[in-house]
Amino acid sequence: CSSLGIGLAGFGTVGSGVWNTLERNGSLISDRTGGGVTLHIAKILVRDLAKARATNGDAPADILTTNWRALVEDPAVDIVVELIGGTTDAYEIVAAALRAKKPVVTGNKALLAERGVELFALSREMDTPIHFEAAVAGGIPIIRTVQDSFVGNRIHSFSGIINGTSNYILGRMTDAGLTFEDALGEAQKLGYAEADPALDVNGWDAAHKAILLATLAYGFPISPADIHVSGIEQVRPTDINFAKNLGYAVKLLAVIREHGDGAVELRIQPSFIAKTNILASVHGVFNAVAVHGDAAGESLFYGRGAGQDPTASSVVADLVEAARGLRQASGHRGFLPYREIGNILPVGETSTAYY
Ligand code: NDP
Ligand code: HSE
Repeated sequence: CSSLGIGLAGFGTVGSGVWNTLERNGSLISDRTGGGVTLHIAKILVRDLAKARATNGDAPADILTTNWRALVEDPAVDIVVELIGGTTDAYEIVAAALRAKKPVVTGNKALLAERGVELFALSREMDTPIHFEAAVAGGIPIIRTVQDSFVGNRIHSFSGIINGTSNYILGRMTDAGLTFEDALGEAQKLGYAEADPALDVNGWDAAHKAILLATLAYGFPISPADIHVSGIEQVRPTDINFAKNLGYAVKLLAVIREHGDGAVELRIQPSFIAKTNILASVHGVFNAVAVHGDAAGESLFYGRGAGQDPTASSVVADLVEAARGLRQASGHRGFLPYREIGNILPVGETSTAYY
């Protein structure tokens, strides 16, 4: 059994969720890391040392810092988790971690979509990974799915809803008659929105995620300047009512499609979705991504696309992956069958509830 130190850059919605998840499930996670590696948070970067945090138990004051270099360079930090957002300081932190050969975990889709070419080149040069499951669709394991489970497929398309905030806003405008501004205020309070919520409503958060998916599937860099993106700011209650009366729902749809000539279509736009289409039933903060592979056919991935705990789930999965890489854990990993004693509920006591 050994221990790996995490440098947690950012202790807001997602960073606090990572702290809470490690506090709650630490021993389970250690068992599943392979070789019993314990993950502990060695240092935390924030802007304001005095701010209250939404955590189970307080982080000791001596592990908080406002100096990102102190976090990256700390010998007790083996893995750097970047959850501050933005593309400037976040870039410096990720680049410095890679140069120090410390694996990086990030949920920052803006950073990877805007500056991924440089960062992935550095990652290759330093032979040090960047893990980014949390960057697309929050708690849905879509990155790992594409990279691992679809590895034998040629990917024809992705389509779906990949911004929780805009989906939440459209839903509240439709179902509760809220104004756009009030619905956005709720999404911010719930921790779904970006620090700059303009990215959620102007379509660019979804575009950053779509760029990441397309880059994985097709392998070439895509410049944000080359794609057309429109968000939900122009959607009015009259549009929503009009759609509703015709049997449609308005959703911010992301479409990535390979064309026969090798060109890739990528668009983000509010769209009318027929009520009979499964995507019309994706409500609130939920996301859904349909992946069409030439071998697998179409698969649909559905879950919470934003928020503290679901996003922390993806970050922690990446932390475990990074820890396995550092320890080169071999043999059985992940969930371990046949090692606990438990009871199965007798037939007469099982629930007859409808699902
Ligand atoms: P928050 O705004 O809640 O938290 C940001 C944290 O980073 C805060 O602790 C803040 O410090 C710290 N911080 C910000 N800038 C700096 C800086 N320059 N130097 C030092 N510390 C800094 O953001 P979220 O947790 O919501 O998001 C973090 C990242 O995760 C973003 O990249 C976002 O896109 C991504 N993400 C978010 C999801 C969500 O549902 N919220 C889902 C998926 C990805 P302080 O607390 O002192 O202000
Ligand atoms: N602001 C983003 C959203 C967070 O609402 O989908 C998850 O990436």
